[in-house]
Amino acid sequence: MTRYATGALLLLFLSTVAVGFVQSRDVAGEVLRLPSEATKFFNRHGDVGKENGDEDDSVGTRWAVLIAGSSGYWNYRHQADVCHAYQLLKKGGVKDENIVVFMYDDIAYDEENPRPGVIINSPHGDDVYQGVPKDYTGDDVTVNNFFAAILGNKTALTGGSGKVVNSGPNDHIFIYYTDHGGPGVLGKELGLRMPTSPYIYANDLIDVLKKKHASGTYKSLVFYLEACESGSIFEGLLPEGLNIYATTASNADESSWGTYCPGEYPSPPEEYETCLGDLYSVAWMEDSDMHNLRTETLRQQYQLVKRRTSNDNSAYGSHVMQYGDLKLSKDDLFRYMGTNPANDNYTYVDENSLRPSSKAVNQRDADLLHFWHKYRKAREGSDRKIKAQKQFADAMSHRMHLDSSIKLVGKLLFGIEKSHEVLTTVRPAGQPLVDDWHCLKTLVRTFETHCGSLSQYGMKHMRSIANICNAGISEQQMSEASAQACVTFPSNSWSSINKGFSA
Ligand SMILES: *[C@@H]1O[C@H](CO)[C@@H](O)[C@H](O)[C@H]1NC(C)=O
Ligand SMILES: *[C@@H]1O[C@H](CO)[C@@H](O)[C@H](O)[C@H]1NC(C)=O
Repeated sequence: MTRYATGALLLLFLSTVAVGFVQSRDVAGEVLRLPSEATKFFNRHGDVGKENGDEDDSVGTRWAVLIAGSSGYWNYRHQADVCHAYQLLKKGGVKDENIVVFMYDDIAYDEENPRPGVIINSPHGDDVYQGVPKDYTGDDVTVNNFFAAILGNKTALTGGSGKVVNSGPNDHIFIYYTDHGGPGVLGKELGLRMPTSPYIYANDLIDVLKKKHASGTYKSLVFYLEACESGSIFEGLLPEGLNIYATTASNADESSWGTYCPGEYPSPPEEYETCLGDLYSVAWMEDSDMHNLRTETLRQQYQLVKRRTSNDNSAYGSHVMQYGDLKLSKDDLFRYMGTNPANDNYTYVDENSLRPSSKAVNQRDADLLHFWHKYRKAREGSDRKIKAQKQFADAMSHRMHLDSSIKLVGKLLFGIEKSHEVLTTVRPAGQPLVDDWHCLKTLVRTFETHCGSLSQYGMKHMRSIANICNAGISEQQMSEASAQACVTFPSNSWSSINKGFSA
C-alpha cells in the first residue's frame, strides 16, 4: 500500500464514516431518579413478585450462560459486557457452579490495555474482570461447546472446564450473548481455528433451543442478544410454546451500537482507544445493577432498554425487539438474575431513566475507530503509527473489496438492472431470512473460496447471499459468478481464508 493510497483511504474514512463520530449533539440531560420513601413498603414485604400469584421462586435453580463471541482488543466491549454480566449475577446470588462463561480472554492482558489485568464496562466503572470463571476461553470458545453447554451434554464438549447447564424441569435459564453478527448469523471469532462453521447460524441455534425444550430440563428460558441484525436470529424462527422469551439489541435489518467509545460523550478515560461497552448491553445491565430485581419485570426492563437503546430515535440507535413467549415477560427479573441485597431499597418505578448516551458507534465501525484513535495518538514516525496506519488501511481495503465483490456477483447473476433490488430485499416481518439454510451455508462457502473470508465486516452481506438462495441460484452458478468477480483478493489478515470458512 503506497503512502498516497493510504492517505486517500483515511480521507475517505473521514469524509464518510467519521462525520458520525465528530458531530456532537445536545442531550436532554435526563438524569437518573430513584425513589426513596416508597421503597420501604416493598422492602417490608420482601418478595413483591410472589404477590402476583406467580410460582414460588424458591423451587428451581437459576442457570446462566454468558458468552462473548469475539476476540481482539478492538472488540474489548464484548468481553467487558460479559464480565459485567457475571458480576451482576454473582451479586444477585447466582452461584458460580451455575454460571457458564465463554470468553476468549485476550483483553485483560493485551498490550493495548492501559490497565493490565483490569476490564471496565463504563467510563467510571470498577474492574469487572476479577473473579470471572474461565470456563471456556481461547480456542475452546466454539459453537460446538456453546451448544453442548446449553444442552448439558458433557460428552459433546472439547476442552474447557466441563461446566454445562445441568438443569432440571423447575429451573430457570438465562442466556446472554454479545458479539458481532449479521443477518441470520452470529460471531466470527467463534471457532476461529475450526475448519468449519465459525458462525452460529440462526437455524442451528433455534434447533438447539428446541432440543433443550424437548429434553424437559427447564421451566423458562430468557435470551438476551446483542449483535448487529440480531432480530434476524429469531424473526420468523423462534416459535411460541418453548417457554422462551428473547430480546435483541436490534431488529433484523440494522446494526447494533457500541457505546462509551473514544470521542463520544460519555467517553472512556483518555488512555482507552476502544469502546467499553455496547448500547443495549449496558442498558440492561446498568438497569439491573441498581434495582431490587424482585420489583422489576422483564417487560419493564425491555421497555426501559428499548427507550435507551433507540437513543431518541437518532441515527445512533437501534430498535430493541422481543420474540417468543411474550407472556413470560411478566416474570420478575429476580427469577433469572437474582437480586443484589444492597439494592433492596431501590424499587423499579417507571420514570427511572438512565441517562441516554448522546452518541454511539456502529458496531461495524468500532474496529476502524480503534485503529483511527491509535493512529491519531501515536507519535509521528513511530512504529506504532505505521502499524495503526496499516491496520486501518487493511481493514478499509478488505471492506471495499467485499462490498464491490458482492455487488459484482449480483450483477453477474441477475443483470445490472435487477441486481440491487434482489440483493437488498428485506422480507416482511415474521418471515425468516432464508428458506434453505443449507443453501446459505453452501453459497457463503462458495463465495469465500473465490473472494476471501467475509470476516466480521462481511457478515453484513449475509442478507444478499440469503436472497441469492431465495432466488434459486445453484452452487454452480454462484461458483462461476464468484470466480469471475474475484480474480484476486487483497491478502491481509482480514481476508485470510486460513482462518477457515464461515460455513
Ligand atoms: C451428546 O453429544 C454426543 C456427541 O456429540 C452425542 O452422540 C449424544 O447423542 C448427545 N447426547 C444427547 C443426550 O443429546
Ligand atoms: C433499607 O431501608 C431500611 C429502612 O430505612 C434500612 O433499615 C435498611 O438498612 C436499608 N437497606 C439497605 C440495603 O440499604
